Amino acid sequence: MLFRGAAPLRFRPRRQITEEVRELSKTLFIKTWGCQMNVYDSARMADVLAPVGFRQVDCADDADMVILNTCHIREKAAEKVFSELGRLRALKKRKQARGGHMILAVAGCVGQAEGAEIMARAPYVDIVFGPQTYHRLPEMVAKAAAETGGNVLDTEFPVESKFDFLPEEQATQGVSAFLAVQEGCDKFCTFCVVPYTRGAGYSRPVLDILAEARRLIAGGAREITLLGQNVNTWRAEGLAGEGSWGLGRLLREVAELEGLIRLRYTTSHPGDMDLSLMSAHAEVPKLMPFVHLPIQSGSNRILALMNRKHEVVEYRRVVDQLRHFRPDIGLSSDFIVGFPGETDADFADTLALVEEIGYAQAYSFKYSPRPGTPAAELAAEASVPESVMGERLAQLQELLNRQQLAFNQAAVGSVMSVLFDRLGRRPEQLLGRSPFMQAVHVVAGEELLGSLAQVRIERALANSLSGSLV
Ligand code: SAH
Ligand code: SF4
Ligand code: F3S
Repeated sequence: MLFRGAAPLRFRPRRQITEEVRELSKTLFIKTWGCQMNVYDSARMADVLAPVGFRQVDCADDADMVILNTCHIREKAAEKVFSELGRLRALKKRKQARGGHMILAVAGCVGQAEGAEIMARAPYVDIVFGPQTYHRLPEMVAKAAAETGGNVLDTEFPVESKFDFLPEEQATQGVSAFLAVQEGCDKFCTFCVVPYTRGAGYSRPVLDILAEARRLIAGGAREITLLGQNVNTWRAEGLAGEGSWGLGRLLREVAELEGLIRLRYTTSHPGDMDLSLMSAHAEVPKLMPFVHLPIQSGSNRILALMNRKHEVVEYRRVVDQLRHFRPDIGLSSDFIVGFPGETDADFADTLALVEEIGYAQAYSFKYSPRPGTPAAELAAEASVPESVMGERLAQLQELLNRQQLAFNQAAVGSVMSVLFDRLGRRPEQLLGRSPFMQAVHVVAGEELLGSLAQVRIERALANSLSGSLV
């Protein structure tokens, strides 16, 4: 038998479970791959486990529990899990030899997509769960730790929303914090696993979002990024009988919160950019002039095969409107090269679009066939050769890097507001972000951490700026 205890977990009184697990009162190491949503989830997993006695540490070596929060988006991302598990198995054995115990858990999108396979290939893994069940972690841990307990697999999509069961107490995320407002996706782009691993789109209620934003601010957050797989599909009942709100209205409300300096949102689908959201960039001073707006390809033919549900002309219109409301807005995007059937002409369209739009920054990837997605079937018949993909990626990245450097160089000589969110590597140095998400190194005292300062930009590198306090 590969795993026992795969039956759905019953909810038991939290106090009883707390008693059972407190015995363990131990250290927790979480390793995170993937998108910002996974970073947010990892923080919340730590919040869920804190009341039952787990304290987060930054090394797996001697931890009592290790969670790998995984990403399934491309093959390479998913493979990393198994190589990491091999390493952890040795740590677990070493700990066992000394009479100790290490609970090994796989979370996130690989857990969701390949739970049974993980249990089969790596039976020393104690717990596998997906993005929608981590509010049940205390139950899972109690079960895995019990004498009679076995491995636990919890990858169902529960009827309850995990958000309703996450603790109010949250560890501080620092100056710049993530707040999940929307999760999951109903778009089913043909290449993408997200609708399968995260489930259907879900929007959190306004009051919950505002309460969490207030707690983050009380904990020191000065910048909040509202997160969603398709954050601009967020829609919920508004306050004071206003009817339903979209993201533009929500941003205006969150911006009212005292103590908050900056507001961002990510990731947006170009098909869901409405006027209220775009005009917020002109009307909400706290909303930063930077938007991540993935297009994936500049070819209408490929966009249709990808099921992106819009054409290039609509993307262009959104960009024009954003620039109308905020002429200096910085744009970023994601691109996939070598989608099945992509021709030289299709790829040339992508390059031409990039030239035309001019990006501040962008991510680009080789197409990776994902099991169970429609494009993977296309790939079986019309895959683009690896060498061609490699050439296209290099060519696209060369252009994008050139644009990014030009964008950074254009900042030299100007004065920018910088929010300092980290200590720099050198003493007396702080690291902050420009309004356009550029990393800015400045010589400044620690007392400026968490505050906004005017900085004259003196130098531009490929991935960062440096300057001095005005
Ligand atoms: N929700 C976001 C994207 C989430 S995934 C959106 O719709 O834009 C992040 C990025 O990973 C995608 O934008 C895409 O560029 C890339 N990606 C997703 N699936 C991929 C695959 N099968 N192969 C290569 N890149 C992929
Ligand atoms: Fe994936 Fe498309 Fe949904 Fe983005 S919109 S998460 S790419 S299916
Ligand atoms: Fe990866 Fe899941 Fe995010 S597949 S990109 S961790 S939604």
